[in-house]
Amino acid sequence: MTTILNVAERMLQIKPSPTLAVNAKAKALKASGADILNFSVGEPDFDTPAHVCAAGKDAIDQGFTRYTAVPGIPELREAIVDRIKVDKGWTYGADQIQVCCGGKHGLYNMAMSLFGPGDEVIVPTPYWVSYPPIIELAGATPVLLPLSDTDNFDIKESELKKCATPRTKGIILNSPSNPTGAIFSNEALRSVADMALENKWAVISDDIYDTIVYEDGPLPHILNVEPKLMDQTLVLNGVSKSFAMTGWRIGYTAGPKHIIAAMNKIQSQSTSNASSVAQKAALAAVLGPQDFPVKMKEAFVPRLDFIIDKLESIPDVTCVRPKGAFYVFPNLSAYYGKSFNGKVIGNSVDMADFFLDEALIASVPGAAFGADDFVRFSFATSMDIIKEGMRRLEEALMKLT
Ligand SMILES: Cc1ncc(COP(=O)(O)O)c(C=O)c1O
Repeated sequence: MTTILNVAERMLQIKPSPTLAVNAKAKALKASGADILNFSVGEPDFDTPAHVCAAGKDAIDQGFTRYTAVPGIPELREAIVDRIKVDKGWTYGADQIQVCCGGKHGLYNMAMSLFGPGDEVIVPTPYWVSYPPIIELAGATPVLLPLSDTDNFDIKESELKKCATPRTKGIILNSPSNPTGAIFSNEALRSVADMALENKWAVISDDIYDTIVYEDGPLPHILNVEPKLMDQTLVLNGVSKSFAMTGWRIGYTAGPKHIIAAMNKIQSQSTSNASSVAQKAALAAVLGPQDFPVKMKEAFVPRLDFIIDKLESIPDVTCVRPKGAFYVFPNLSAYYGKSFNGKVIGNSVDMADFFLDEALIASVPGAAFGADDFVRFSFATSMDIIKEGMRRLEEALMKLT
């Protein structure tokens, strides 16, 4: 086929996800009848709560099916303001909230509103897969701040300082983190706060996993560490993970009024508004009982305990115990350089491929998160699958010589 059309220049910068090859292969194997166990999913294995679905159905029955206000229906923005006040103690006005089509869309609107060519944005690494491409789509440059499993993936002030330049415009924090499950300590957040205040950085706090936390006590947060950062922080959140609503596509951002206004301009010229029906469902989630994420978390705990015990029992595998979210991120680099049937496992993509071929388990290579020593497994799946999957994982690793 001849290519008459050329893609836009910006598309040349966006790299295809290294997860795609493994995903495509997993799907093909499954379609051919192989008993693939899937540990690659990034969504809770729960159904959206019944009262939330009912609110969506009611919205349809009542003909609530037209365009809404660009930043979201006023009652949802008010409900988000109240929920944040009750849960976190931070005060926002409804004009400081934007409701959009999922957390990822909030990040996109934020990046397009805040960052442009010549700007640098610090991204603690391992990072969630979409941060660097979204920053690049805005024309800015992601600057990777390395985090180590030996420091429990916490930010080190010395490393942070190395990333800062006169072009630094912001930093993205994700705590609890996808993929590591780590939570940044108050000390680490203090260093970020000091640098952000001094250099007028934008602080982007992606709090999408903040209801799935396995630690007691308050979740450390940049806005609690330094309330003065309120005027330069954007808090991103949504109902995808907390209410098992990944398909409804509702996220929201809270932040300074003029940045939210800029984000609304982008939204008005792109998606107009998030789905009217999904906004009504999200309203029921935000206003209603908050026990759903608690129950979900309670279901995750025994799975987490099992998977960590199992990983730690496998020779040369190390894994930092996640403090939140529903992923484990074991370091498997001790097995790199080993081989099976003549094929050398050189990196995380080879390892995920090997797991798929030899153990019929789908995982996500750490390279997708900028951390090639690791492979990510989601435990948002049943205990039976976890037990069988971990058994297969160990068996496969033991075949490597
Ligand atoms: C860290 C992080 N932020 C944001 C998102 C986006 O969530 P949503 O499905 O609401 O777009 C995800 C989804 O996997 C995530 O892991």
